[in-house]
Amino acid sequence: MKNFTYSIPTVVHFGQGQIQKLGGEIAARAHKVLVVYGGGSVKRNGVFDAAVQQLKDHGLPWTELSGVEPNPRVATVREGIRLCREQGLDGVLALGGGSVIDCAKGIAAGFYYGGDPWDFPGKKLTPERALPIFTVLTMAATGSEMDDIAVISNPETNEKESFSGPCCYPAVSILDPTYTYSLPPYQTAAGTADIMSHTLENYFSPIETNYLADSLAEAILRSCITYGPRAMENPNDYEARANLMWNASWAINGFLKMGKGVAWSVHRMEHELSAFYDITHGVGLAILTPNWMRYVLHEKTQARFARYGTAVWGLDASRPVRELAEAAIQKTRDFFISLGLPATLSELGIGPEYFPEMARKARIDGFDNAFVPLSVEDIVNIYQISL
Ligand code: NZQ
Ligand code: ZN
Repeated sequence: MKNFTYSIPTVVHFGQGQIQKLGGEIAARAHKVLVVYGGGSVKRNGVFDAAVQQLKDHGLPWTELSGVEPNPRVATVREGIRLCREQGLDGVLALGGGSVIDCAKGIAAGFYYGGDPWDFPGKKLTPERALPIFTVLTMAATGSEMDDIAVISNPETNEKESFSGPCCYPAVSILDPTYTYSLPPYQTAAGTADIMSHTLENYFSPIETNYLADSLAEAILRSCITYGPRAMENPNDYEARANLMWNASWAINGFLKMGKGVAWSVHRMEHELSAFYDITHGVGLAILTPNWMRYVLHEKTQARFARYGTAVWGLDASRPVRELAEAAIQKTRDFFISLGLPATLSELGIGPEYFPEMARKARIDGFDNAFVPLSVEDIVNIYQISL
C-alpha cells in the first residue's frame, strides 16, 4: 500500500425525512443561498418544495438558477457565479444529480476566482477556496455528493474535463433514497453502471495489496448487481434505492483508492464520448467497460479478472484462470445489457470519425497508475471494438 491521507469532510444525513436537517445545517454556514437545479424533475417530485420549506423555516433568502444541463456546461457555471456576486449570496444549494452538484461546485469555487471558471478544468487549476456547498441528491450515480470532483463541459471546444480540490467537498449532503423513486429506469441503469465503473476503476489498479479496499469494492459491485435490477423493477423499493445511493457515495468518495494508484482509464475515454456526442455518462461507461476489460486481459492481468469473477459474479473458483477471467468479462457485458443499456457505440449513432482526436485528448495527462497503460493507438482500438 502507498502512503495516504484520509479526509472526507462531508456531513451526510442519510435516510427518509432527513431533509429536516437541511435548514439548520445551511443556517450554520451561510445567510443567503443560490438554489441550483436542472430541467425540473425536482419541481415534479417534491424535492424543491421540501428544500425551499427548509430555507423559509430558517429565514434564509435564496435565488434560483434552473436549467443545469446533464453534462453541465461552463456557461451555466458562469451564470451562477454572476448571480452569487451580484446578489451577495454566500452558499450554493444543489438539488439534483451529479450534473447539478458539479455545476454548483464550479459556481462555489469560481466565486472566489478572478479568471474564467473554465480555467479549473481546462488548465487543471486546483481551486483554493469555495463557498459552502450543500446538496440534496436525487440520483445514485456519480458520488459527487461526497467527493471533491466536478466535471464540466465546454461544447464550443468539444471538451469535457474535471477539476477537484479539498474546498469542493460538499459541506453537507442530504441523501434521502425516496427522492430517487421518480428516477426513470434508463437513468437508474445508467447510474448503476456509473457506480460499478467507479468501483472497477479503483479495483483494477496496479496496486493490489489493499485488502480492505478491494473487499469493499467487491461488496459494492455485488450490491449494485443485486439492487440495480430491483430498483428498475420496483422504483419505490426503499431497500434497493437506499443501497444504490450509499454504494454510489462509497464508490468514489476516495476510500477505495486509498493506498492505491488509479488512472480512471475508462472514464477518460468516456468523457471524450460525452464531450463529442453529449451522451449519458453511465451509458458510455457500460459500453466501454467490457471492451476495455477484453482489451487489457492478458497473462499478467488474468488473475485479477479471475478473482473478480469469483468474488463478484460467484463463478466456480476451480475453473482455469483464463476461463474465469473471460467469463467474468462476459458477465459484466451481459449484466449491462440486461439493464437495457446499449452494448455498442453504433447504437448511439457514434462512428469512428473522431476516434483519433478523442484518443489523443483522453491521453492528455498520460495514464500514470494505470492497471494497463494505454497508448493513443490502444485507445483508438478500444473505441473500435466498441463500435
Ligand atoms: O435535469 P433534471 O430535471 O434534474 O433531470 C435529471 C437528468 O435529466 C434526471 N434526474 C435526476 N434525478 C431525478 C431525475 N429525474 C427524475 N427523478 C429524479 N429523482 O436524470 C437526468 C440525468 O441527471 P444527471 O445529473 O446528469 O446524472 P448523473 O448524476 O449521472 O450526473 C452525470 C454528470 O456527472 C459527471 C458526468 O460526467 C456527468 O457530467 N460525473 C461526475 C463525477 C463526480 N463529480 O465525481 C464523477 C463521474 O464519473 C461523472 O463523470
Ligand atoms: Zn463516472
